[in-house]
Amino acid sequence: NPLNFSGVWRFRSLFPFATDEQIVTLGEGQTLLQQTDDVGKFVGLDAGKLHLQYEGMNPSGSFKDNGMTAAFTHAHMVGAKRAACASTGNTSASLAMYCSVTRLMKAVIFIGSGKISYGKLSQALDYGALTLQIAGDFDDAMARVKEVSKDMGIYLVNSVNPFRLEGQKSVMFRVLEALQWEPPDWIVVPGGNLGNSSAFGKAFAELKELGLINRIPRLAVINASGADTLDQLYNNQDVRWNEGKYPRHKIAAYYEKMDDENRKASTLASAIEINRPVNLHKCLRALSDCDGVVRQVSDQEIMDAKSRVGSGGMGCEPASAASVAGAKILREQGIIAPSDRVVCILTGHLLKDPTATVAYHTTDQDTFNSVLGSRGVKRATFANR
Ligand code: F0G
Repeated sequence: NPLNFSGVWRFRSLFPFATDEQIVTLGEGQTLLQQTDDVGKFVGLDAGKLHLQYEGMNPSGSFKDNGMTAAFTHAHMVGAKRAACASTGNTSASLAMYCSVTRLMKAVIFIGSGKISYGKLSQALDYGALTLQIAGDFDDAMARVKEVSKDMGIYLVNSVNPFRLEGQKSVMFRVLEALQWEPPDWIVVPGGNLGNSSAFGKAFAELKELGLINRIPRLAVINASGADTLDQLYNNQDVRWNEGKYPRHKIAAYYEKMDDENRKASTLASAIEINRPVNLHKCLRALSDCDGVVRQVSDQEIMDAKSRVGSGGMGCEPASAASVAGAKILREQGIIAPSDRVVCILTGHLLKDPTATVAYHTTDQDTFNSVLGSRGVKRATFANR
């Protein structure tokens, strides 16, 4: 069956919402789990203990294709002719690619002004998506696309869409398959809109219930310091899922304060520059199911980790490196032990956001200043070049 060539749909018995004939696939999910001692040493782990999951190997260059093939399939099943998303770049690149290759739908994309890397924007543009830059940031674009898609009857493919998360469960199925169904101690993932972490939690809960695993790995979700809503809520306001409940009023009060202070997300890792994650509640549940922890990492920590992933592995974009930087912090704090088996998810390809990478390595002062220096990030030291 050709569907077995998809790293997503060969697990379709675990998300059986479409018949084989209805599925739209572009061969997504052909990714790799690789053991990397060089990066493991940087994190502080014993030899053989760190694995990197390269989701940048997907057809549009990010993990988003895992979920997009599922949401796109559902959109097609219900007869949608237009699909929309707000995006920091990767969701839009993925949607635009499925539209362009299949010709089944038109893509409508909302992006914040000046908030998207050229690598990602060029994908949306070349794939022929209607690409609208709105005044504001991702959070504003997200609010806008929700209204517009409702008013105009356009199918919404952001990760509020539950079918996206079904497809993204397959990332964990592949990781476990590669580890011969022996769960690692930790899964570490960057947190933006919190779709991945939510999907992973669901995947583990289901696998445990089915008896396919006997233990759930711990989940670590890593925010960028400039976009740390989850970290603030989870660790500082003690917003925890407690016997099926969480204090919604605390979350509402936090958002109100954020609005009063006109606080906007700001990080070099533009993919996760998000202050109002749409899957917050689902992620809190996943953290509860997976004995989770949340941490934040600075732009400097992200860039340093990223260059290690590049020099000791296949590389990734800045947001992805938050997972490696976060694992390092959890290791330093003694929460991850040197002998723990850790899987860091690398969500996007190195080529997605070359500007930050070049600025980090260049000796040209102007280039460095315009991208990194202005944010107080230092360039690569000899040690991490
Ligand atoms: N890493 C990359 C490379 C991303 O593009 C994103 C999200 C994340 C991590 C965060 O994942 O939302 O599941 O917590 N990018 C979205 C987009 C928001 O529009 O492309 P999450």
